[in-house]
Order: sequence, then structure tokens, then C-alpha cells
Amino acid sequence: MKVALGSTKISESQSNVKTCPKCGGKKELIVNIAGEGRKVPCLCHCESEKYERLQETEEQKQKMLRLEKLRSHSLMGKQFENCTFENFELNNQNKGMYKLGKNYCKNWQEMKERNMGLLLYGSPGTGKTFLAFCIANGLLDYMIPVIAISSIGLLNRIKETYDSWGREGEIEIINNLKNASLLVLDDLGAENNTSWAKEKIYEIIDSRYRDGKPCIITTNLTREGLKKKLTGDDGISRTYDRIVEMCYPIEIRGQSRRIETAKEKEEVIKKLIN
Ligand SMILES: Nc1ncnc2c1ncn2[C@@H]1O[C@H](COP(=O)(O)OP(=O)(O)OP(=O)(O)O)[C@@H](O)[C@H]1O
Ligand SMILES: [Mg+2]
Ligand SMILES: [Zn+2]
Repeated sequence: MKVALGSTKISESQSNVKTCPKCGGKKELIVNIAGEGRKVPCLCHCESEKYERLQETEEQKQKMLRLEKLRSHSLMGKQFENCTFENFELNNQNKGMYKLGKNYCKNWQEMKERNMGLLLYGSPGTGKTFLAFCIANGLLDYMIPVIAISSIGLLNRIKETYDSWGREGEIEIINNLKNASLLVLDDLGAENNTSWAKEKIYEIIDSRYRDGKPCIITTNLTREGLKKKLTGDDGISRTYDRIVEMCYPIEIRGQSRRIETAKEKEEVIKKLIN
């Protein structure tokens, strides 16, 4: 900070301002107050560096707090926090999935603007949930509000809220979903086949559709199976039609990872026996 000072009186006193013994910078400035030069304390180089470092730490702390808040609003179960691209175990089957997920996050602005979601479908244990939560965590790291929950979990939350707060509570939870830039709806189609569940799923999907906000959906039903499952009692496939428009379908094939894990465990047990 530089202060332009005019009178001779002031430049005389400028010579004896305090300086820092460490950096040699001025610790005082002379400012013109009502025509008179007055000494006021100021930060020398090392002090201002220290101040900047403190501010950075504070900003980092605030960022972590915001991130924590976003995470707690994401409704994501603790067990999914380790679904990250760093923990992604690559094999011949899932290279494409890894690339897809990474690039989805990288191109998030475009995905968002064009309302590009994904419908990840395929047999159990192929890593659909893992991929969807990798994307969710990847975006959360960039402070993008995401909600990631299974359809059963979400419906249970709606039910619980309804029980304690009535219809208004239910509306609130559905409205809260609106705040999420991305909704990851895991295992769609695994919920009970009731009119109530279908109606709620419709409300959720329709709200995303109206707001033009993307969804990533995973299911182990086929597309036909999902369509059938979501079709209302009146026989009209409103929900599925919206999903088709919003979510690009990608079939995830391959062997179940769960079978591989079971095989590894079998080896461990065999060692215990022999
Ligand atoms: N890329 C990966 N890296 C590490 N672990 C993975 C990966 N993909 C899947 N897994 C693990 O393999 C198991 C099965 O994966 P996941 O639950 O994602 O399958 P899914 O396709 O969603 O199955 P379902 O259709 O039954 O829901 C999980 O324990 C998951 O953590
Ligand atoms: Mg799954
Ligand atoms: Zn100093």
C-alpha cells in the first residue's frame, strides 16, 4: 500500500517510521489526516504473507465445511464414499466405463446444459452402482450439489417424512431434490410394485424433466422390463418416456464382480481348511 503525501512536514517524519527487523519492510505508514501526517501501523512483507496464508487456510476450512454440508445433503450412504475414480479397479471389461465416468465429470457443464443423463442397465454385479457413485463423488469434489440414493432408500425417506410431517414434509423432500444439479437414482425398479411407489417415482422423474436437470439411473432390469415396471395403472408409460428422453441408455455387460469376490473368499477359506 502506498500513500502519496505532499507536505514537507510529512516527509520529514516519514524517515523515522518503524521497520521490521526480519524483512526490513515498513511497519508504519504516514497518512494525511486533516492536513497533518499521522503514523498508522501497517503490515510489513512477512506479516502480510502470514496474513495471506491464514486467509488461505480459512478459505480451505470453509471449503471443507461446504463440502461436508453438500455431502450430508447428498443422502449418500457412507459405504459409497469410497466409490471414486482413484479406487476404480480397472480390468478389460470396465475400461470403457471408467472413461465414460471420467469424461462425464470433465464435461459436466455440457452434460448439465444439454440435460444429458445416463441409464446404466445390465446384469447384477457389473459395477453400475460403483460407476454412478464415482460420478457423484467426482462432482461433489467440485462442489456440485448431487443427490445419490437408491430408489428404495428415497421412497423410504419420503414415507418417513410423510409419517412425521404429512404431505407437506413429503413435498419438501421432493422439492429438495430439485436443488441437486445431478440426481443419481440407484437400482430403479427394485422398489415395491405399488401404485404409490410408481406415482412417487413419476413425481421425481417428472420434476427433473420439467427442470431440465440430469439424472443417472442404474437398474438391473432390461429397458423393456423397466418400462413395464414403471408403467402406471392406466397403462401409460409416462415415467419411462421421460427417462428415455433424458438418459442415454448404456448396457453394462460382463461377469459379476460379486462372483469373483466370492471366488477369492473361497480361496482364503480353503487355505484355512488345508
Ligand atoms: N470398478 C470397480 N472397482 C472396484 N470395485 C468395484 C468396481 N466395480 C464394482 N466394484 C465392486 O463390485 C461389487 C458389485 O458392483 P456394483 O454394486 O456396482 O454392481 P451393480 O452392477 O450395481 O449390481 P446390481 O445390479 O446388483 O446393483 C461392489 O462390491 C462394488 O464395490
Ligand atoms: Mg447396483
Ligand atoms: Zn517483516
